[in-house]
Amino acid sequence: MASAASASIKATLSSEASNWNPENAYFPGEFAWGAATAAYQIEGGWDADGKGPSVWDTFTHQGGDRVFKNQTGDVACGSYTLWEEDLKCIKQLGLTHYRFSLSWSRLLPDGTTGFINQKGNCSFKIESCAALIQGVDYYAGVIDSLLMNGVTPVVTLYHFDLPQPLEDQGGWRSGATAEAFDAYAQFCFRTFGDRVKLWITINEPYVVAVLGYEKGLMAPGVTEPGTGAYLAAHNMIKAHAAAWHSYDRLFRKKQGGLVSIALNSDWAEPFNPNSLADREAAKRHLAFCLDWFATPIFLDGDYPAVMKSKIAAVCKRQGSPSSRLLEFTSEEKTMIKGTADFFALNYYTTRKIKHQDNLCTQPSMSADKEAEQVTDPSWPVATGSSWLAVVPWGLRRLLKYIKDTYNHPIIYITENGFSQSDPAPLDDTLRWEYFRLTLQEILKAIYIDGVQLKGYFVWSLLDNFEWTCGYSSRFGLFHVAFENSALPRLPYRSAIEYAKVIANNRRVKLDG
Ligand code: BGC
Repeated sequence: MASAASASIKATLSSEASNWNPENAYFPGEFAWGAATAAYQIEGGWDADGKGPSVWDTFTHQGGDRVFKNQTGDVACGSYTLWEEDLKCIKQLGLTHYRFSLSWSRLLPDGTTGFINQKGNCSFKIESCAALIQGVDYYAGVIDSLLMNGVTPVVTLYHFDLPQPLEDQGGWRSGATAEAFDAYAQFCFRTFGDRVKLWITINEPYVVAVLGYEKGLMAPGVTEPGTGAYLAAHNMIKAHAAAWHSYDRLFRKKQGGLVSIALNSDWAEPFNPNSLADREAAKRHLAFCLDWFATPIFLDGDYPAVMKSKIAAVCKRQGSPSSRLLEFTSEEKTMIKGTADFFALNYYTTRKIKHQDNLCTQPSMSADKEAEQVTDPSWPVATGSSWLAVVPWGLRRLLKYIKDTYNHPIIYITENGFSQSDPAPLDDTLRWEYFRLTLQEILKAIYIDGVQLKGYFVWSLLDNFEWTCGYSSRFGLFHVAFENSALPRLPYRSAIEYAKVIANNRRVKLDG
Protein backbone atom coordinates (compact mmCIF):
# COMPACT_ATOMS: atom_id res chain seq x y z
CA MET A 1 0.00 0.00 0.00
CA ALA A 2 1.30 3.41 -0.85
CA SER A 3 2.69 4.80 2.37
CA ALA A 4 1.34 8.33 1.84
CA ALA A 5 -2.23 7.04 1.56
CA SER A 6 -1.68 4.80 4.55
CA ALA A 7 -0.25 7.60 6.68
CA SER A 8 -3.09 9.87 5.71
CA ILE A 9 -5.84 7.47 6.72
CA LYS A 10 -4.04 6.68 9.97
CA ALA A 11 -3.89 10.38 10.78
CA THR A 12 -7.58 10.82 9.96
CA LEU A 13 -8.49 7.85 12.09
CA SER A 14 -6.52 8.86 15.12
CA SER A 15 -7.70 12.45 15.05
CA GLU A 16 -11.32 11.40 14.57
CA ALA A 17 -11.08 8.56 17.08
CA SER A 18 -10.35 11.04 19.82
CA ASN A 19 -13.71 12.67 19.04
CA TRP A 20 -15.53 9.35 19.06
CA ASN A 21 -19.00 9.56 20.45
CA PRO A 22 -21.23 6.60 19.73
CA GLU A 23 -24.28 8.84 19.48
CA ASN A 24 -22.83 11.16 16.95
CA ALA A 25 -20.24 9.59 14.70
CA TYR A 26 -18.86 10.74 11.38
CA PHE A 27 -17.09 8.77 8.72
CA PRO A 28 -13.48 9.70 8.06
CA GLY A 29 -13.13 12.66 5.73
CA GLU A 30 -11.53 10.68 2.89
CA PHE A 31 -14.00 7.80 3.03
CA ALA A 32 -14.87 6.38 -0.41
CA TRP A 33 -18.63 6.20 -0.99
CA GLY A 34 -19.43 3.87 -3.80
CA ALA A 35 -21.74 1.52 -5.60
CA ALA A 36 -20.74 -1.43 -7.74
CA THR A 37 -21.86 -3.24 -10.88
CA ALA A 38 -20.51 -5.89 -13.24
CA ALA A 39 -20.41 -5.92 -17.03
CA TYR A 40 -22.52 -8.99 -17.76
CA GLN A 41 -25.11 -8.01 -15.17
CA ILE A 42 -25.83 -4.54 -16.61
CA GLU A 43 -24.43 -3.94 -20.08
CA GLY A 44 -26.47 -6.04 -22.50
CA GLY A 45 -25.12 -5.65 -26.05
CA TRP A 46 -23.90 -9.21 -25.70
CA ASP A 47 -22.80 -9.44 -29.36
CA ALA A 48 -22.68 -5.75 -30.25
CA ASP A 49 -19.87 -4.09 -32.16
CA GLY A 50 -17.44 -6.95 -32.31
CA LYS A 51 -17.84 -8.32 -28.78
CA GLY A 52 -16.99 -12.02 -28.46
CA PRO A 53 -19.03 -14.53 -26.43
CA SER A 54 -18.36 -15.13 -22.75
CA VAL A 55 -19.17 -18.20 -20.69
CA TRP A 56 -22.29 -16.45 -19.40
CA ASP A 57 -23.55 -15.87 -22.94
CA THR A 58 -23.13 -19.58 -23.58
CA PHE A 59 -24.57 -20.68 -20.24
CA THR A 60 -27.72 -18.55 -20.54
CA HIS A 61 -28.27 -19.34 -24.22
CA GLN A 62 -28.17 -23.05 -23.50
CA GLY A 63 -31.38 -22.75 -21.45
CA GLY A 64 -32.22 -25.81 -19.42
CA ASP A 65 -33.76 -23.89 -16.53
CA ARG A 66 -30.44 -23.25 -14.83
CA VAL A 67 -31.42 -19.57 -14.74
CA PHE A 68 -34.79 -18.24 -13.54
CA LYS A 69 -37.20 -18.43 -16.49
CA ASN A 70 -34.17 -18.99 -18.74
CA GLN A 71 -33.50 -15.25 -18.62
CA THR A 72 -30.27 -13.88 -20.09
CA GLY A 73 -28.04 -10.81 -19.88
CA ASP A 74 -28.47 -10.13 -23.61
CA VAL A 75 -30.15 -6.79 -22.86
CA ALA A 76 -29.95 -6.47 -19.04
CA CYS A 77 -29.97 -2.77 -18.01
CA GLY A 78 -28.77 -1.77 -21.47
CA SER A 79 -25.83 0.09 -19.95
CA TYR A 80 -23.79 -0.42 -23.11
CA THR A 81 -26.02 2.13 -24.81
CA LEU A 82 -27.57 3.80 -21.74
CA TRP A 83 -24.38 4.67 -19.88
CA GLU A 84 -25.49 8.32 -19.58
CA GLU A 85 -28.51 7.12 -17.57
CA ASP A 86 -26.23 5.25 -15.17
CA LEU A 87 -24.09 8.33 -14.81
CA LYS A 88 -27.19 10.32 -13.80
CA CYS A 89 -27.85 7.77 -11.04
CA ILE A 90 -24.25 8.02 -9.84
CA LYS A 91 -24.50 11.80 -9.72
CA GLN A 92 -27.87 11.71 -7.98
CA LEU A 93 -26.30 9.59 -5.23
CA GLY A 94 -23.27 11.87 -4.98
CA LEU A 95 -20.92 8.87 -5.12
CA THR A 96 -17.23 9.55 -4.78
CA HIS A 97 -16.34 6.16 -6.33
CA TYR A 98 -17.95 3.83 -8.85
CA ARG A 99 -16.86 0.21 -9.19
CA PHE A 100 -17.62 -1.52 -12.49
CA SER A 101 -16.09 -4.36 -14.47
CA LEU A 102 -14.69 -4.55 -17.96
CA SER A 103 -16.05 -7.24 -20.22
CA TRP A 104 -12.91 -9.15 -21.24
CA SER A 105 -14.59 -10.39 -24.41
CA ARG A 106 -15.81 -6.91 -25.38
CA LEU A 107 -12.18 -5.76 -25.34
CA LEU A 108 -10.49 -8.94 -26.59
CA PRO A 109 -13.16 -10.97 -28.42
CA ASP A 110 -11.25 -14.25 -28.36
CA GLY A 111 -9.70 -13.57 -24.94
CA THR A 112 -6.22 -12.95 -26.33
CA THR A 113 -4.42 -9.76 -27.26
CA GLY A 114 -4.17 -11.12 -30.81
CA PHE A 115 -7.20 -9.00 -31.71
CA ILE A 116 -8.26 -5.83 -29.92
CA ASN A 117 -11.82 -4.58 -30.36
CA GLN A 118 -11.10 -0.95 -31.07
CA LYS A 119 -12.16 1.51 -33.74
CA GLY A 120 -10.02 1.08 -36.84
CA ASN A 121 -9.22 -2.46 -35.75
CA CYS A 122 -12.45 -3.85 -36.97
CA SER A 123 -13.00 -7.28 -38.43
CA PHE A 124 -16.09 -6.05 -40.35
CA LYS A 125 -16.10 -3.92 -43.48
CA ILE A 126 -14.38 -0.68 -42.62
CA GLU A 127 -17.39 1.57 -43.61
CA SER A 128 -19.68 -0.08 -41.08
CA CYS A 129 -16.97 -0.13 -38.48
CA ALA A 130 -16.45 3.61 -38.40
CA ALA A 131 -19.93 4.13 -36.94
CA LEU A 132 -19.48 1.63 -34.14
CA ILE A 133 -18.54 2.34 -30.59
CA GLN A 134 -16.19 -0.50 -29.88
CA GLY A 135 -15.04 -2.05 -26.65
CA VAL A 136 -12.06 0.14 -25.91
CA ASP A 137 -13.90 3.33 -26.80
CA TYR A 138 -16.91 2.39 -24.69
CA TYR A 139 -14.88 1.96 -21.52
CA ALA A 140 -12.73 5.00 -22.26
CA GLY A 141 -15.97 7.01 -22.44
CA VAL A 142 -17.20 5.60 -19.12
CA ILE A 143 -13.92 6.32 -17.37
CA ASP A 144 -13.56 9.82 -18.82
CA SER A 145 -17.10 10.84 -17.92
CA LEU A 146 -16.68 9.56 -14.35
CA LEU A 147 -13.52 11.58 -13.95
CA MET A 148 -15.12 14.66 -15.48
CA ASN A 149 -17.79 14.38 -12.80
CA GLY A 150 -15.34 13.97 -9.96
CA VAL A 151 -16.05 10.25 -9.48
CA THR A 152 -13.12 7.86 -9.01
CA PRO A 153 -13.36 4.73 -11.17
CA VAL A 154 -12.60 1.40 -9.48
CA VAL A 155 -12.18 -1.16 -12.22
CA THR A 156 -12.61 -4.93 -11.96
CA LEU A 157 -10.88 -6.77 -14.78
CA TYR A 158 -12.86 -9.98 -14.54
CA HIS A 159 -16.27 -10.48 -12.91
CA PHE A 160 -17.36 -14.05 -13.84
CA ASP A 161 -17.55 -13.52 -17.66
CA LEU A 162 -14.59 -15.49 -19.03
CA PRO A 163 -14.26 -15.34 -22.84
CA GLN A 164 -15.78 -18.55 -24.22
CA PRO A 165 -12.77 -19.34 -26.47
CA LEU A 166 -10.61 -19.56 -23.32
CA GLU A 167 -13.14 -21.84 -21.65
CA ASP A 168 -13.05 -24.03 -24.74
CA GLN A 169 -9.38 -24.61 -23.96
CA GLY A 170 -9.99 -25.55 -20.33
CA GLY A 171 -10.88 -22.18 -18.79
CA TRP A 172 -9.62 -21.81 -15.22
CA ARG A 173 -8.69 -25.49 -15.20
CA SER A 174 -5.82 -24.55 -17.51
CA GLY A 175 -2.65 -22.65 -16.65
CA ALA A 176 -2.90 -21.04 -20.11
CA THR A 177 -5.89 -19.00 -18.87
CA ALA A 178 -3.70 -17.50 -16.15
CA GLU A 179 -1.24 -16.41 -18.84
CA ALA A 180 -4.02 -14.99 -21.01
CA PHE A 181 -5.34 -13.10 -17.97
CA ASP A 182 -1.95 -11.53 -17.34
CA ALA A 183 -1.74 -10.38 -20.98
CA TYR A 184 -5.30 -8.98 -20.76
CA ALA A 185 -4.50 -7.21 -17.48
CA GLN A 186 -1.38 -5.63 -19.01
CA PHE A 187 -3.46 -4.48 -21.96
CA CYS A 188 -5.97 -2.82 -19.58
CA PHE A 189 -3.26 -1.19 -17.45
CA ARG A 190 -1.60 0.16 -20.61
CA THR A 191 -4.89 1.37 -22.13
CA PHE A 192 -6.71 2.81 -19.11
CA GLY A 193 -4.09 3.04 -16.35
CA ASP A 194 -3.32 6.69 -16.98
CA ARG A 195 -6.85 7.35 -15.60
CA VAL A 196 -7.67 4.33 -13.43
CA LYS A 197 -5.82 4.12 -10.11
CA LEU A 198 -7.76 1.42 -8.27
CA TRP A 199 -7.85 -2.03 -9.83
CA ILE A 200 -9.46 -5.31 -8.83
CA THR A 201 -8.09 -8.26 -10.80
CA ILE A 202 -10.66 -10.99 -10.13
CA ASN A 203 -14.04 -10.73 -8.46
CA GLU A 204 -14.78 -13.52 -5.98
CA PRO A 205 -12.52 -16.36 -7.12
CA TYR A 206 -14.31 -18.50 -4.50
CA VAL A 207 -17.62 -18.19 -6.36
CA VAL A 208 -16.05 -18.86 -9.76
CA ALA A 209 -14.21 -21.92 -8.43
CA VAL A 210 -16.98 -23.48 -6.34
CA LEU A 211 -20.10 -22.60 -8.32
CA GLY A 212 -18.45 -22.61 -11.76
CA TYR A 213 -16.11 -25.62 -11.60
CA GLU A 214 -17.20 -27.74 -8.61
CA LYS A 215 -20.98 -27.59 -8.41
CA GLY A 216 -21.69 -26.45 -11.96
CA LEU A 217 -24.42 -24.07 -10.80
CA MET A 218 -22.96 -21.03 -12.54
CA ALA A 219 -21.10 -20.61 -15.83
CA PRO A 220 -19.26 -22.47 -17.21
CA GLY A 221 -21.37 -25.12 -15.44
CA VAL A 222 -18.57 -27.63 -14.85
CA THR A 223 -19.30 -30.32 -12.26
CA GLU A 224 -16.06 -31.77 -10.94
CA PRO A 225 -16.61 -32.34 -7.23
CA GLY A 226 -13.55 -32.45 -5.03
CA THR A 227 -11.13 -31.29 -7.73
CA GLY A 228 -12.64 -28.62 -10.00
CA ALA A 229 -12.69 -25.82 -7.44
CA TYR A 230 -9.17 -26.48 -6.18
CA LEU A 231 -7.75 -26.48 -9.68
CA ALA A 232 -9.63 -23.35 -10.81
CA ALA A 233 -8.65 -21.49 -7.62
CA HIS A 234 -5.01 -22.50 -8.07
CA ASN A 235 -4.90 -20.96 -11.53
CA MET A 236 -6.82 -17.84 -10.49
CA ILE A 237 -4.38 -17.18 -7.64
CA LYS A 238 -1.48 -17.49 -10.10
CA ALA A 239 -3.29 -15.27 -12.61
CA HIS A 240 -3.89 -12.59 -10.00
CA ALA A 241 -0.30 -12.69 -8.78
CA ALA A 242 1.08 -12.48 -12.32
CA ALA A 243 -1.11 -9.44 -13.08
CA TRP A 244 -0.07 -7.73 -9.82
CA HIS A 245 3.61 -8.27 -10.69
CA SER A 246 3.07 -6.94 -14.20
CA TYR A 247 1.55 -3.79 -12.74
CA ASP A 248 4.31 -3.49 -10.19
CA ARG A 249 7.07 -3.98 -12.75
CA LEU A 250 5.72 -2.13 -15.77
CA PHE A 251 3.13 0.43 -14.68
CA ARG A 252 3.20 1.33 -10.99
CA LYS A 253 6.00 3.85 -11.13
CA LYS A 254 4.39 5.86 -13.91
CA GLN A 255 0.71 5.34 -13.05
CA GLY A 256 0.85 5.20 -9.25
CA GLY A 257 -2.22 3.00 -8.78
CA LEU A 258 -3.14 0.11 -6.48
CA VAL A 259 -4.12 -3.45 -7.35
CA SER A 260 -6.05 -6.03 -5.32
CA ILE A 261 -8.48 -8.95 -5.67
CA ALA A 262 -12.09 -8.92 -4.35
CA LEU A 263 -12.63 -11.76 -1.87
CA ASN A 264 -16.08 -12.71 -0.64
CA SER A 265 -16.69 -14.23 2.73
CA ASP A 266 -19.42 -14.98 5.20
CA TRP A 267 -18.66 -14.39 8.84
CA ALA A 268 -18.68 -17.74 10.69
CA GLU A 269 -19.94 -18.08 14.28
CA PRO A 270 -19.62 -21.41 16.11
CA PHE A 271 -23.08 -22.99 16.44
CA ASN A 272 -22.30 -23.87 20.04
CA PRO A 273 -19.69 -21.43 21.36
CA ASN A 274 -18.92 -23.86 24.21
CA SER A 275 -18.03 -26.66 21.80
CA LEU A 276 -14.37 -26.80 20.77
CA ALA A 277 -15.37 -28.86 17.72
CA ASP A 278 -17.80 -26.15 16.56
CA ARG A 279 -15.27 -23.39 17.23
CA GLU A 280 -12.70 -25.23 15.11
CA ALA A 281 -15.31 -25.87 12.41
CA ALA A 282 -16.13 -22.14 12.28
CA LYS A 283 -12.44 -21.41 11.74
CA ARG A 284 -12.35 -24.00 8.96
CA HIS A 285 -15.39 -22.42 7.31
CA LEU A 286 -13.41 -19.17 7.04
CA ALA A 287 -10.27 -21.02 6.00
CA PHE A 288 -12.03 -22.77 3.11
CA CYS A 289 -13.56 -19.49 1.91
CA LEU A 290 -11.61 -16.32 2.72
CA ASP A 291 -8.23 -17.66 3.84
CA TRP A 292 -8.03 -20.04 0.85
CA PHE A 293 -7.13 -16.94 -1.19
CA ALA A 294 -6.09 -14.41 1.45
CA THR A 295 -3.43 -16.55 3.16
CA PRO A 296 -1.36 -17.09 0.00
CA ILE A 297 -1.86 -13.55 -1.29
CA PHE A 298 -1.51 -11.56 1.94
CA LEU A 299 0.67 -13.82 4.10
CA ASP A 300 2.99 -16.54 2.87
CA GLY A 301 2.27 -17.62 -0.69
CA ASP A 302 0.68 -20.88 0.44
CA TYR A 303 -2.72 -22.32 1.34
CA PRO A 304 -3.90 -22.26 4.97
CA ALA A 305 -2.33 -25.09 7.00
CA VAL A 306 -5.76 -26.34 8.10
CA MET A 307 -6.89 -26.73 4.48
CA LYS A 308 -3.77 -28.67 3.58
CA SER A 309 -4.00 -31.05 6.53
CA LYS A 310 -7.76 -31.57 6.37
CA ILE A 311 -7.89 -32.29 2.62
CA ALA A 312 -4.85 -34.59 2.81
CA ALA A 313 -6.44 -36.56 5.67
CA VAL A 314 -9.79 -36.91 3.88
CA CYS A 315 -8.05 -38.02 0.66
CA LYS A 316 -6.06 -40.63 2.55
CA ARG A 317 -9.24 -41.98 4.13
CA GLN A 318 -10.87 -42.07 0.70
CA GLY A 319 -7.96 -44.18 -0.56
CA SER A 320 -6.20 -41.51 -2.60
CA PRO A 321 -2.39 -41.51 -2.33
CA SER A 322 -2.09 -37.74 -2.85
CA SER A 323 -4.08 -34.73 -1.79
CA ARG A 324 -6.61 -33.22 -4.19
CA LEU A 325 -5.38 -29.76 -3.12
CA LEU A 326 -2.58 -28.78 -5.47
CA GLU A 327 0.77 -27.51 -4.20
CA PHE A 328 2.53 -24.31 -5.14
CA THR A 329 6.23 -24.64 -5.96
CA SER A 330 8.58 -22.55 -3.85
CA GLU A 331 9.03 -20.12 -6.80
CA GLU A 332 5.26 -19.80 -7.07
CA LYS A 333 4.95 -19.13 -3.33
CA THR A 334 7.48 -16.33 -3.59
CA MET A 335 5.64 -14.99 -6.61
CA ILE A 336 2.20 -15.06 -4.92
CA LYS A 337 3.10 -13.72 -1.48
CA GLY A 338 2.35 -10.03 -0.93
CA THR A 339 0.49 -9.40 -4.16
CA ALA A 340 -2.27 -7.06 -2.94
CA ASP A 341 -2.07 -3.34 -2.19
CA PHE A 342 -5.25 -3.30 -0.09
CA PHE A 343 -7.91 -5.75 1.08
CA ALA A 344 -11.10 -5.77 -1.02
CA LEU A 345 -13.94 -7.53 0.80
CA ASN A 346 -17.41 -8.52 -0.44
CA TYR A 347 -19.66 -9.24 2.55
CA TYR A 348 -23.29 -10.36 2.49
CA THR A 349 -24.10 -12.74 5.30
CA THR A 350 -23.14 -14.79 8.37
CA ARG A 351 -23.54 -18.47 9.15
CA LYS A 352 -23.52 -20.57 12.29
CA ILE A 353 -21.18 -23.50 11.92
CA LYS A 354 -21.34 -27.01 13.38
CA HIS A 355 -18.65 -29.63 13.14
CA GLN A 356 -19.67 -32.37 10.72
CA ASP A 357 -17.61 -35.53 10.16
CA ASN A 358 -16.93 -36.21 6.51
CA LEU A 359 -18.25 -39.69 5.91
CA CYS A 360 -18.38 -39.28 2.11
CA THR A 361 -16.63 -41.87 0.00
CA GLN A 362 -16.72 -39.57 -3.03
CA PRO A 363 -14.59 -36.42 -3.30
CA SER A 364 -16.40 -33.17 -2.50
CA MET A 365 -14.99 -29.84 -1.53
CA SER A 366 -17.88 -28.94 0.75
CA ALA A 367 -17.47 -32.25 2.61
CA ASP A 368 -13.68 -31.74 2.91
CA LYS A 369 -14.10 -28.89 5.37
CA GLU A 370 -16.12 -30.96 7.82
CA ALA A 371 -18.31 -28.04 8.71
CA GLU A 372 -22.05 -27.71 8.33
CA GLN A 373 -23.58 -24.25 7.97
CA VAL A 374 -26.89 -23.19 9.43
CA THR A 375 -28.78 -19.94 9.58
CA ASP A 376 -30.15 -18.66 12.84
CA PRO A 377 -33.95 -18.55 12.40
CA SER A 378 -34.07 -15.25 14.26
CA TRP A 379 -32.06 -13.49 11.54
CA PRO A 380 -34.15 -11.65 8.93
CA VAL A 381 -33.69 -12.90 5.38
CA ALA A 382 -33.60 -10.58 2.35
CA THR A 383 -36.80 -11.19 0.39
CA GLY A 384 -34.95 -11.54 -2.92
CA SER A 385 -32.30 -14.09 -1.85
CA SER A 386 -33.01 -17.05 0.40
CA TRP A 387 -29.28 -17.34 1.25
CA LEU A 388 -28.98 -13.76 2.44
CA ALA A 389 -29.58 -13.68 6.18
CA VAL A 390 -29.14 -10.09 7.30
CA VAL A 391 -26.45 -9.94 10.00
CA PRO A 392 -24.79 -6.51 10.09
CA TRP A 393 -22.73 -7.32 13.22
CA GLY A 394 -21.13 -10.23 11.31
CA LEU A 395 -19.45 -7.67 9.07
CA ARG A 396 -17.84 -5.96 12.06
CA ARG A 397 -16.47 -9.30 13.30
CA LEU A 398 -15.17 -10.20 9.87
CA LEU A 399 -13.43 -6.85 9.54
CA LYS A 400 -11.76 -7.35 12.94
CA TYR A 401 -10.72 -10.87 11.88
CA ILE A 402 -9.11 -9.47 8.72
CA LYS A 403 -7.35 -6.77 10.71
CA ASP A 404 -5.94 -9.30 13.17
CA THR A 405 -5.10 -12.03 10.66
CA TYR A 406 -3.76 -10.04 7.73
CA ASN A 407 -1.51 -7.47 9.37
CA HIS A 408 -3.95 -4.61 9.70
CA PRO A 409 -4.45 -3.90 5.98
CA ILE A 410 -6.34 -1.00 4.47
CA ILE A 411 -9.75 -2.44 3.62
CA TYR A 412 -12.43 -1.46 1.14
CA ILE A 413 -15.83 -3.16 1.34
CA THR A 414 -16.19 -3.60 -2.40
CA GLU A 415 -19.69 -5.14 -2.16
CA ASN A 416 -22.50 -5.28 0.36
CA GLY A 417 -26.21 -5.28 -0.26
CA PHE A 418 -29.69 -6.66 0.30
CA SER A 419 -32.10 -7.88 -2.35
CA GLN A 420 -35.84 -7.53 -2.68
CA SER A 421 -37.95 -9.95 -4.63
CA ASP A 422 -39.70 -8.75 -7.75
CA PRO A 423 -42.01 -6.78 -7.70
CA ALA A 424 -39.83 -4.63 -5.45
CA PRO A 425 -41.45 -1.60 -3.78
CA LEU A 426 -39.73 1.74 -4.30
CA ASP A 427 -40.35 2.44 -0.64
CA ASP A 428 -37.84 -0.12 0.65
CA THR A 429 -37.82 1.18 4.21
CA LEU A 430 -36.76 -2.11 5.73
CA ARG A 431 -33.89 -2.48 3.29
CA TRP A 432 -32.63 0.98 4.19
CA GLU A 433 -32.75 -0.07 7.82
CA TYR A 434 -30.36 -2.93 6.94
CA PHE A 435 -28.01 -0.50 5.21
CA ARG A 436 -28.19 1.89 8.16
CA LEU A 437 -27.41 -0.86 10.66
CA THR A 438 -24.54 -1.99 8.48
CA LEU A 439 -23.09 1.52 8.32
CA GLN A 440 -23.27 1.67 12.10
CA GLU A 441 -21.29 -1.55 12.38
CA ILE A 442 -18.73 -0.07 10.01
CA LEU A 443 -18.38 2.98 12.25
CA LYS A 444 -17.81 0.71 15.23
CA ALA A 445 -15.21 -1.24 13.25
CA ILE A 446 -13.39 1.98 12.42
CA TYR A 447 -13.56 3.74 15.77
CA ILE A 448 -13.78 0.98 18.35
CA ASP A 449 -11.84 -1.83 16.65
CA GLY A 450 -9.38 0.41 14.82
CA VAL A 451 -9.94 -1.22 11.42
CA GLN A 452 -8.43 0.80 8.55
CA LEU A 453 -11.57 0.88 6.49
CA LYS A 454 -11.32 3.24 3.57
CA GLY A 455 -14.52 2.78 1.62
CA TYR A 456 -17.90 1.13 1.16
CA PHE A 457 -19.58 0.07 -2.09
CA VAL A 458 -23.25 -0.86 -2.21
CA TRP A 459 -24.11 -3.81 -4.41
CA SER A 460 -25.58 -2.61 -6.65
CA LEU A 461 -26.13 0.71 -8.40
CA LEU A 462 -29.00 -0.78 -10.41
CA ASP A 463 -31.31 -3.75 -10.33
CA ASN A 464 -29.62 -6.14 -12.71
CA PHE A 465 -29.18 -9.70 -13.97
CA GLU A 466 -28.68 -11.54 -10.68
CA TRP A 467 -27.00 -14.61 -12.21
CA THR A 468 -29.16 -17.74 -11.76
CA CYS A 469 -31.97 -15.65 -10.25
CA GLY A 470 -32.23 -13.58 -13.42
CA TYR A 471 -34.25 -10.41 -12.84
CA SER A 472 -36.29 -11.84 -9.96
CA SER A 473 -33.85 -10.65 -7.30
CA ARG A 474 -33.41 -6.87 -7.04
CA PHE A 475 -30.21 -5.54 -5.48
CA GLY A 476 -30.29 -2.04 -6.99
CA LEU A 477 -30.29 1.35 -5.37
CA PHE A 478 -32.20 2.21 -8.54
CA HIS A 479 -35.14 0.22 -9.79
CA VAL A 480 -35.00 -0.80 -13.45
CA ALA A 481 -38.26 -1.51 -15.26
CA PHE A 482 -37.07 -4.42 -17.42
CA GLU A 483 -40.48 -4.81 -19.04
CA ASN A 484 -40.20 -1.30 -20.53
CA SER A 485 -37.86 -1.21 -23.54
CA ALA A 486 -36.55 2.21 -22.47
CA LEU A 487 -35.29 0.53 -19.25
CA PRO A 488 -36.05 3.55 -17.03
CA ARG A 489 -34.18 3.87 -13.72
CA LEU A 490 -35.99 5.13 -10.61
CA PRO A 491 -34.49 5.58 -7.15
CA TYR A 492 -35.57 3.35 -4.30
CA ARG A 493 -35.91 5.05 -0.94
CA SER A 494 -32.53 3.49 -0.06
CA ALA A 495 -30.94 5.56 -2.83
CA ILE A 496 -32.40 8.75 -1.43
CA GLU A 497 -31.25 7.90 2.11
CA TYR A 498 -27.80 6.80 0.95
CA ALA A 499 -27.41 10.09 -0.93
CA LYS A 500 -28.28 11.94 2.30
CA VAL A 501 -25.63 10.03 4.24
CA ILE A 502 -23.05 10.85 1.60
CA ALA A 503 -24.06 14.52 1.40
CA ASN A 504 -24.83 15.07 5.08
CA ASN A 505 -21.28 15.24 6.14
CA ARG A 506 -21.18 11.43 5.99
CA ARG A 507 -23.07 10.96 9.19
CA VAL A 508 -25.20 8.02 10.33
CA LYS A 509 -26.87 8.39 13.70
CA LEU A 510 -26.16 5.41 15.88
CA ASP A 511 -29.20 5.68 18.07
CA GLY A 512 -31.64 4.76 15.32
C1 BGC B 1 -21.29 -10.94 -6.84
C2 BGC B 1 -22.34 -10.16 -7.59
C3 BGC B 1 -23.72 -10.64 -7.19
C4 BGC B 1 -23.90 -10.39 -5.70
C5 BGC B 1 -25.25 -10.77 -5.15
C6 BGC B 1 -21.64 -11.20 -5.41
O1 BGC B 1 -21.33 -12.53 -5.14
O2 BGC B 1 -20.03 -10.35 -6.99
O3 BGC B 1 -22.10 -10.30 -8.95
O4 BGC B 1 -24.72 -10.08 -7.95
O5 BGC B 1 -22.94 -11.14 -5.01
O6 BGC B 1 -25.49 -12.13 -5.29
